Amino acid sequence: MNKQKSIELLNKAISEELSAIHQYMYFHFILDDLGYDLLASIFKKTAIDEMLHTEKFAERILFLGGEIEMKPSHEVEHIRDVEEMLKWAMKSEEEAMEMYNDFAIEAANARDSGTKQIFEQIIADEERHFETFETEYENLQKFGDRYLAQQAMERSKKMGINPVE
Ligand SMILES: [Fe+2]
Ligand SMILES: [Fe+2]
Repeated sequence: MNKQKSIELLNKAISEELSAIHQYMYFHFILDDLGYDLLASIFKKTAIDEMLHTEKFAERILFLGGEIEMKPSHEVEHIRDVEEMLKWAMKSEEEAMEMYNDFAIEAANARDSGTKQIFEQIIADEERHFETFETEYENLQKFGDRYLAQQAMERSKKMGINPVE
């Protein structure tokens, strides 16, 4: 088994996950401020999933005797347009699926089937994330501003019931 190769792949994966967490939380903050509760919570929940992916990769690095670098691959983009946020998220999930498919093959070539399996498990989650973002993107295309207005009105209704919030 080529442990160094696996540790390198796992650290690259963590870099992608950290960037996704930062970007999704940024989207969550903006959407929450706008009152779009559904989208805000989708981004927050997805960020938590990406955190759990980071944890799985980190545990594997320690098992292999490596160091966890924890370097985000890129800076947060200050995107405030909802359509652009969803496009960013779909692209990011697609890139993650492709990257982890490649990494699963590279891990197999390094004769590390444990790491290969972790990448394969996480690909299934990224596919689910992609589908969720795609559904919301399609809703936005179909219903336009009404889709966003609906979410803002749901927030107002909830506050009407419970004005303390
Ligand atoms: Fe992930
Ligand atoms: Fe994801």
